[in-house]
Amino acid sequence: MNLKLKIWRQKNANSSGEMVDYNISDVSPDMSFLEMMDVLNNELISKDQDPISFDHDCREGICGMCSMHINGRPHGPDDLVTTCQLHMRKFKDGDTIIIEPFRADAFPVIKDLVVDRSAFDRIQQAGGFVSINTSGNTQDANTIPIAKENADKAFDAATCIGCGACVATCKNASAMLFVSAKVSQFSLLPQGKVEAKDRVLNMVKQMDEEGFGNCTNTGACEVECPKGISLENIARMNREYLKASIKD
Ligand code: SF4
Ligand code: FES
Repeated sequence: MNLKLKIWRQKNANSSGEMVDYNISDVSPDMSFLEMMDVLNNELISKDQDPISFDHDCREGICGMCSMHINGRPHGPDDLVTTCQLHMRKFKDGDTIIIEPFRADAFPVIKDLVVDRSAFDRIQQAGGFVSINTSGNTQDANTIPIAKENADKAFDAATCIGCGACVATCKNASAMLFVSAKVSQFSLLPQGKVEAKDRVLNMVKQMDEEGFGNCTNTGACEVECPKGISLENIARMNREYLKASIKD
């Protein structure tokens, strides 16, 4: 396939960026999107030009690093996949592909397609830890009965990889789907109930301080989430937050 790429180039956090056109030829439909970007970068390096900076790590859909907007969608035109799992067979010979960084005030661009998503780390840190009773009465986790439905829902919430697609696609740049997944993975389990009130209050406070917008129930986050995190988690977080806000 021969493709035309329009890619956001930005030298650093303080400079203004622009879309730059590139042509790439002989792209195999079996390449991953990031492999196609690697080929382009090799060509740029061989011409002594600055390669395009983009985040990636696992290339297996696990780490959540490969955040970029492709043709107006976070992680591109396929459903339930990250950019690293997107294959070039989703495009046609002669296509123009527009590639941009995730756009949100709370995710400032560092260079080209790389954005700073450390706000997510600070929200998770604000959630604190799960305490373990080591007084000698510690109960083996395997002996604590947990309803299958709750275990499944907690596990589903824990599959959130912190990629930020939910924020990037939301017209309010809201982080509610991400935060609600992180709240739910603990609040559904008995081990997570001990610090549940502080956790939800502190995580929501940090989310607001980081400059994420509010949720207006448009549901775009659920549609674009590569892990299929359900909006149900946002409803659960709202309930948890309300319960935690009421003084005992
Ligand atoms: S909720 Fe989905 S889209 Fe949002 S950070 Fe987690 S995995 Fe990514
Ligand atoms: S590089 Fe890890 S999820 Fe894409």
